[in-house]
Amino acid sequence: MRFWPRSIRWQMLAGLLLLEILSIGLFAALLTRQQTSRVYVRAQHWLTYESQALASQIAEALEKQSPGWIDTTVRTVGKSPNVSLAKATDPAGNVLYLSKGDADQAVLEPGELAMIPEAKRNGTLVFTLPGNRWEGVSAIVTAGRLRGYAWVQFDKSAAEEQLAAIQTDTLVFGIIWVVASALLVLMMGRSITRPLALLHHGATSLMTSPEDSSRFPLPVRVHNEIGDLIETFNRMVASLAEQRAGLNDTLSLLDSMLANAPIGLAFVDRNGRVVRVNQIFADLTGVAVSRHLGRTLPDLLPPPVATEIDGAVQQVFLSEEPVRNLELSGEGGKPRRPWTWLISAYPVRTTPKQVRWVGIIALDASDRKRSEEALRRSEKLAVTGRLAASIAHEINNPLEAITNLLFLLRNTSELPDATKQYVTMAEYEVRRIAEITQQTLRFYRQPTQPGRVTMEELLDSVLNLFQSRIHSLDLQVERDYDAGLTLFCFAGEIRQVFANLVGNSIDASSNGGRLVIRARRSRDWRNPAQTGIRFAVADTGAGMEPDVREHIFEAFFTTKEVTGTGLGLWVSQEIILKHHGLVRVRSRSVARPDEPARKNSGTVFEVFIPDNANLASSMNPAAD
Ligand SMILES: Nc1ncnc2c1ncn2[C@@H]1O[C@H](COP(=O)(O)OP(=O)(O)OP(=O)(O)O)[C@@H](O)[C@H]1O
Ligand SMILES: [Mg+2]
Repeated sequence: MRFWPRSIRWQMLAGLLLLEILSIGLFAALLTRQQTSRVYVRAQHWLTYESQALASQIAEALEKQSPGWIDTTVRTVGKSPNVSLAKATDPAGNVLYLSKGDADQAVLEPGELAMIPEAKRNGTLVFTLPGNRWEGVSAIVTAGRLRGYAWVQFDKSAAEEQLAAIQTDTLVFGIIWVVASALLVLMMGRSITRPLALLHHGATSLMTSPEDSSRFPLPVRVHNEIGDLIETFNRMVASLAEQRAGLNDTLSLLDSMLANAPIGLAFVDRNGRVVRVNQIFADLTGVAVSRHLGRTLPDLLPPPVATEIDGAVQQVFLSEEPVRNLELSGEGGKPRRPWTWLISAYPVRTTPKQVRWVGIIALDASDRKRSEEALRRSEKLAVTGRLAASIAHEINNPLEAITNLLFLLRNTSELPDATKQYVTMAEYEVRRIAEITQQTLRFYRQPTQPGRVTMEELLDSVLNLFQSRIHSLDLQVERDYDAGLTLFCFAGEIRQVFANLVGNSIDASSNGGRLVIRARRSRDWRNPAQTGIRFAVADTGAGMEPDVREHIFEAFFTTKEVTGTGLGLWVSQEIILKHHGLVRVRSRSVARPDEPARKNSGTVFEVFIPDNANLASSMNPAAD
């Protein structure tokens, strides 16, 4: 309803006013009606009586033949209370006497004339004229003869005054009643609407800013049902806050699990859209966490991987059973490296019957794969090494016999000079074979205790091992080291470092070039007080891009897909640290790979090993 007020208070007021006005109006109408009908009944009696009295007095005057009395009687009756007019007519209705005014001028009204036949029949009659005027008429009869009619009209003014007084009293009483009850309703309405408004504001602020607890608990100012309602509301707010705190705790727990779990986690909805991922998953895909949300896996991952994972996710949605340890592998990242992921997908239910999301667990198994591979290779290398050592050992004895025999042959006097020349050449080659076998044996039978080694001997022995590769690549080797330079170290390990560096340089120098080996007494470049030996391996090979150089000391980092394990520099660094030493690298790679000579590229590895008088004790206290 358009005009009906919204507020309870005004609704109550409007309802009450309507009801009261209606009932007071009705009451006044009933009272007026009752009063009017009572006056009418009284008037009927009165008119009957007055008209009959007038008729009998006129009849008496006629009988006594004193017509003068008639006029007096009519005028007297006309002046009596409750009578406004009295008149006497002949049987035809002609006015003969009138209480006020001139009788000759007066005539009966049509309504009065119409009553004459009935008055003649009944003798007396009371009737109503237009304008709600009441009148009584009685026949004047003398000695059984109709002589005329006596007419008396009722004076209503007294009755009307009384009625008006009753109506005024009712109105005054009604106004007082309405005003008093309106005030009462307004007061009562306020006591309802104020707490309700308080509850309304409380509920609104609970919805708009649930974290803001400054408004609660709401004040309880009334101790009735509404007060109970506010108290219940306060208890509900407190329990909601408690539940929210519990929920927040759980959420923080889940968030920290998601953020810190050492596995990639992602959640996907039925439309295949990602709803949540953690940083590790984002690291695996190489896409920022925020860019995952709302996207599908094919938007984020290369096609074959996305298809595999998506397939697993759909399978989980269909079967509602987890899919475990799906192994995916490929190549990616910068620099490109092979990777292996183990993917599991499991259903996430919000109700026991509904799988709402599928959780994806991604485990980066690349390192494990690589270490398995490296282990396989190093086992192979160890076997090969042992085999090489045993072959070298076996070759040694026959070699010694051949050397002796060649010596005897060369000293045989009857041999022609040219043949002696060949024998000398054969002796030279056999010596080389002997040297290689000696070195191989030395390489694989490393002493477990540190000792003092001659740098020249150590460096030469390694270079000799690579002699044939150096030769076939046409590498120019520059040996720049002082004779008599010695170092207290684990010789086998330092030899391994050196062999790694030289091996890497040779790998990088596919187009020939120079290989410079330098060794000097020097000082620590970070702490000049520390003396020791610095040796460098420099090549004019391919060099390294900065993003490769960043990773070279990491285990399993290699750019040599098939031949490298990526352990060489990692192991070398460990050994150098064990000797309290330092290693640094400078490298330059020519941007254009098509440049043939690569004159400007190359790499320098520098290693500093301090004089370690107490190396043995620091390594192994028992060894002293
Ligand atoms: N002198 C060099 N010139 C250019 N790149 C080099 C040089 N030395 C090392 N690197 C780069 O560093 C990477 C790591 O070297 P590292 O010796 O640790 O492993 P690897 O040589 O690849 O394998 P492994 O030594 O196990 O056979 C190499 O793959 C190569 O890319
Ligand atoms: Mg290497």
